[in-house]
Amino acid sequence: MSAVPIVTGGAGFIGSALVRALLAGGAPRVTVIDNFSSGKHENLVEVADRVDVHEVDIRDFEAIAPLFTAGAMVYHLAAIPSVPRSIADPVPSHEVNIDGTFNVLRAAREAGAKRVVYAASSSAYGDTEVLPKLESMRPAPLSPYAAQKLMGEYYCSVFSSCFSLETVALRFFNVFGPRQDPNSPYSGVLSIFMKCVLAGTAPTLFGDGEQSRDFTYVEDVAGLVIKAATAEGVSGMVFNAGNGNRYTLNETWKLICAIHGVEIAPNYGPPRAGDVRDSQADVTAAVRCLGHAPRFTFEEGLRRTLAWYAESG
Ligand SMILES: NC(=O)c1ccc[n+]([C@@H]2O[C@H](COP(=O)([O-])OP(=O)(O)OC[C@H]3O[C@@H](n4cnc5c(N)ncnc54)[C@H](O)[C@@H]3O)[C@@H](O)[C@H]2O)c1
Repeated sequence: MSAVPIVTGGAGFIGSALVRALLAGGAPRVTVIDNFSSGKHENLVEVADRVDVHEVDIRDFEAIAPLFTAGAMVYHLAAIPSVPRSIADPVPSHEVNIDGTFNVLRAAREAGAKRVVYAASSSAYGDTEVLPKLESMRPAPLSPYAAQKLMGEYYCSVFSSCFSLETVALRFFNVFGPRQDPNSPYSGVLSIFMKCVLAGTAPTLFGDGEQSRDFTYVEDVAGLVIKAATAEGVSGMVFNAGNGNRYTLNETWKLICAIHGVEIAPNYGPPRAGDVRDSQADVTAAVRCLGHAPRFTFEEGLRRTLAWYAESG
């Protein structure tokens, strides 16, 4: 029998989608490590009978180490995932995103885990002008969060080369979908757009709204993460995990309004520190080496997401 997969941050937005995808793909059970700082029990409610949830903090090595088992596939998604929060309050995000990631890698190595797939971030690219972003470009982080996630990549690569722990880092590009929390000042932009359109209110776009993003539907991300767990010959490597397209915030807001059948002009505010202007993934390597094959167009992802927010009230 193969070891039970472990998902850190499994009660979060992307982590819970990954847990559902693993179970749907045939895993009989999944172990979740989460301190519920932004994760929620309700994100796992319909799979609760097949998930072993451990409410522990990845900053506490002694607490997490016994949960790692030989041969387990480890999906490391736990993080404080916010650029503005890392600027306003850098210490906790440093401790979780760097020290916590080190603890996860160390625990995985000491237990003899099979591989760690790490949720890295496209923020590593910063504002480099060339689009689309290629993994071989020199990183240029613009915020503590971006630097922390990049350090996690470097640690993955070093654990692969120095300690023979298999690792793969995936740079997620603006993930969206059901269960993304719209209620914090640090929320992803699309979850805020969904909340606004359903309430009939105008969102505030930071800057002129012409900044663009490679929005990736959460189920496509979960699918790629699972492919990265079994792909051959990729240990120590970093891959873009985007869709390969980009949309401006102005275009995106218009599209959401059109799907919902309303017309609402957005408000504009000052640009936000640490934000990058444009982002788009070159997914050639992920397609070639990992078999990346996104199933959802942007519009289909938006429809599904909006339907979920409408239903969940
Ligand atoms: N959402 C995106 O667009 C995006 C883009 C790039 C990278 N990522 C990365 O993907 C991962 C998941 O992000 P998300 O959007 O689902 O965010 P999320 O906040 O929903 O999920 C993060 C999870 O980690 C948990 N967590 C935080 N600190 C912890 C700690 N100290 N110990 C244990 N658990 C802890 C939270 O409770 C939460 O369940 C993160 O690593 C993030 O950096 C996300």
